[in-house]
Amino acid sequence: MIECRVCAGSLSEFIDFGRQPLSDAFRKPDDSTPEFFFRLAVGICESCTMVQLVEEVPRDRMFHQEYPYHSSGSAVMSKHFAKTAHYFLETELTGADPFIVEIGCNDGIMLKTIREAGVRHLGVEPSGGVAELARSEGVRVRTDFFEESSASKIRAAEGPADVIYAANTICHIPYIESIFRGVDALLSAAGVFVFEDPYLGDIVERTAFDQIYDEHFFFFTVRSVGAMAQRFGFELVDVERLAVHGGEVRYTIARAGSRTPSAATAELLAEEQARGLAERTTFDHFADAVGQVRDDLIALLRRLRDEGSRVVAYGATAKSATVANYCGIGPDLVPFVCDTTLVKQGRLTPGSHLPVRPVTAFADPYPDYALLFAWNHAEEIMAKEQQFRDAGGRWILYVPEVKII
Ligand code: SAM
Ligand code: TMP
Ligand code: ZN
Repeated sequence: MIECRVCAGSLSEFIDFGRQPLSDAFRKPDDSTPEFFFRLAVGICESCTMVQLVEEVPRDRMFHQEYPYHSSGSAVMSKHFAKTAHYFLETELTGADPFIVEIGCNDGIMLKTIREAGVRHLGVEPSGGVAELARSEGVRVRTDFFEESSASKIRAAEGPADVIYAANTICHIPYIESIFRGVDALLSAAGVFVFEDPYLGDIVERTAFDQIYDEHFFFFTVRSVGAMAQRFGFELVDVERLAVHGGEVRYTIARAGSRTPSAATAELLAEEQARGLAERTTFDHFADAVGQVRDDLIALLRRLRDEGSRVVAYGATAKSATVANYCGIGPDLVPFVCDTTLVKQGRLTPGSHLPVRPVTAFADPYPDYALLFAWNHAEEIMAKEQQFRDAGGRWILYVPEVKII
């Protein structure tokens, strides 16, 4: 039996992508050391309904000095996090000498606005390279994993936090009990723990199976997060749907009984119930839909190759590791993927070994088709690449289904 990382209940597995590499392990072309693979499969807890990976990758293999994901690569996300910072500055951080801690601050994309406002803050970020980038923006960062022990040290040195915030990070952390113990140690009596992550409701609705990879350990719903908060002495008091990254929910958690839960929380919970978002059959349908997308995508790419069309990929996302490796997309179908991230360029994508090139390679010359791996940034990228469309290029999307636009 595989145990749930929240409640130790039994996991019921519903999809298996087989052996997959680490999604952010971009390789040097001359690296001949064996690649690390693990079994990527997902199950739902029969007790608390938390959806999660069945196998865990050791955290130091994923989050280290060379972690290549730089949050500030997207202008839309920069705007989103500036807005988030202002929201906190105007609501929770209005008392005397307020203090905000961000778990997984990456390159400082959110905290730099807090720093500009002169508000006391601390980022906790284990990946040394991105932590350095945040420091270069004047952001205070502790290079460390957030967990019970580090949180207790922060509390002892700096006092209680009014806000503990995390974006696209809590779903990465299997040792969730230690996170809540850490929040308990560090959060002020009236403070809030706020986190936002990809929403299982959107993943299922859009068949967005590429949200499933090593780093995304948990797939949250209002129901599962509510139960998790309660288990650890907290309460889910608000939820907000966000359009970023293909559909997310921002959860606001407070100490049990300290705040009145919002109507939005009850509404989204009821919607989940009506959609069967905790039922096994829903996930069986999801698994069937995933298989269909894979078959359609591979058939399309083979047809285009056989017709002599040139297809390149856009955005060497972590998500694309699952797509490329599960669908079998190698350099025979897609000769390269372009990406703006300097540290990914010149490397090969994990497992599938597609060369990563700078975005200048995209227009040199434009391909017939571009496979949009970074579909969650579609608006931003398509606006930027209007000339590709004007030159007759077409985009290939596979969420929610395979289509050419
Ligand atoms: N918050 C940024 C955003 O939304 O763009 C970064 C998200 S990135 C996908 C996840 C970040 O969480 C990485 O920078 C990683 O190093 C960090 N991380 C992973 N485990 C962590 C932990 N236990 N404590 C703090 N940060 C962690
Ligand atoms: P993400 O989907 O995990 O945010 O990753 C997006 C990837 O796409 C990241 O490697 C940066 C890349 N990217 C571009 O190459 N051009 C762009 O305009 C944007 C927004 C992202
Ligand atoms: Zn459970």
